[in-house]
Amino acid sequence: MNVLLVGSGGREHAIAWRLGQSKELGRLYIAPGNPGTAQCGTNVDIGSGDVEGLVEFAKSNDIALAVIGPEDPLAAGIVDAFEQAGIKAFGPCAGAAQLEADKAFAKQIMRANSIPTAESRAFETFADAKAYIASRDESVVVKAAGLAAGKGVFVCDDPADGILAAERIMQGRIFGEAGNVLIVEDKLLGQEASILAFVDGRSIYVMESSQDHKPIGDGDTGPNTGGMGAYCPAPIVTEQLMSQIVKEVLVPTVDGMNRNGTPYRGVLYAGLMMTQGGPRVLEFNVRFGDPETQPILMRLKTDLLEVMLAVCEGRLGEITLEWDPRPAVCVVLASGGYPGDYEKGKAISGLDTAAAMDDVMVFHAGTAEKDGQVLTAGGRVLGVTALGATIAEAKAAAYRAVDVIDFEGAYCRRDIADKAI
Ligand code: AMP
Ligand code: GLY
Repeated sequence: MNVLLVGSGGREHAIAWRLGQSKELGRLYIAPGNPGTAQCGTNVDIGSGDVEGLVEFAKSNDIALAVIGPEDPLAAGIVDAFEQAGIKAFGPCAGAAQLEADKAFAKQIMRANSIPTAESRAFETFADAKAYIASRDESVVVKAAGLAAGKGVFVCDDPADGILAAERIMQGRIFGEAGNVLIVEDKLLGQEASILAFVDGRSIYVMESSQDHKPIGDGDTGPNTGGMGAYCPAPIVTEQLMSQIVKEVLVPTVDGMNRNGTPYRGVLYAGLMMTQGGPRVLEFNVRFGDPETQPILMRLKTDLLEVMLAVCEGRLGEITLEWDPRPAVCVVLASGGYPGDYEKGKAISGLDTAAAMDDVMVFHAGTAEKDGQVLTAGGRVLGVTALGATIAEAKAAAYRAVDVIDFEGAYCRRDIADKAI
């Protein structure tokens, strides 16, 4: 069967690599892909936002399944468009993708279904938001309700900073329309974990737990990024906590989405804070996480294409998820200056040496190829991922591979996975 994968990040390289190992796979196309996905299939020069172009390509290339990586096309209704064309698509329909694309909607679903999350309020005018934040004397978290590439959240230790953030979002419009509605919520304390599950509308199959590293600097300092590294599993999520998360978060979310008339299919990703009072939802994503997918898929042994088809056909119950028992760690190599301004077009060396190491995968994200040379082309450039007998060994193996790769201005955090060691 021929598959079209939509997206171009490290997550998509990891998905393409696993799909490429499926015995069911005929041809694999990736739109637009990157030099890493080009090693797993054929890159097609259609942007992930060009829904019409992607559906047309699928119709004329005998595509049986479309797999959608990023959130923007999901929110724009790409799955609905494929289904109308009679082509199966892995991911939620636009109505269900609101769980990520509209944080006010997500909060309503959580409230209506008693899903544990931070207390919050939604505001449509800056004046109302300002008055509310000013009336509080503790830390607040201020969020643009719409999609902001993971950068729409400000954790503010005093109300004055909260008002400033609200002003930038609602009046400065730094995230455009995504800031039309503002969410103000209580700050939660604890360690974070990402729980991803395959959902076919009814059945929920949880993947191994993982943890992202959002801030740019070691020790979780500096501004937030798209994610600087991840490990899988996250030891903080004990078996008992995992059952609690399934029972208190995932099951009521999937039930609530059915009752709401927006049934959920695809990957459901709960970003959680493990507070003293138990797990609380920080956000939902409606897709695989990036970079969590890189270490998670490094460990998945079950045929990913079979799992995705089972999700689309509502027969997840027939599948057993099998995992490599060894932990995996992914370290992101970024361009110097990211998440602020950075230069592109730097030649990358050492890729082949790193890729030849045992149990190491170098997933491409912001890369481009010119005359046979791989160049930097984005903020997060590579996700260097390794398996090891323990998390400490996986970390050491990932950094050994990182250390043979070089490009001008290359930057990575040096403490990925330390929280788990
Ligand atoms: P989100 O995109 O909503 O997951 O938020 C991005 C990051 O902001 C999270 O990964 C947390 O580190 C932080 N964050 C979001 N909401 C809260 C909260 N209520 N309390 C503390 N930190 C938060
Ligand atoms: N790793 C966070 C995200 O994918 O949104």
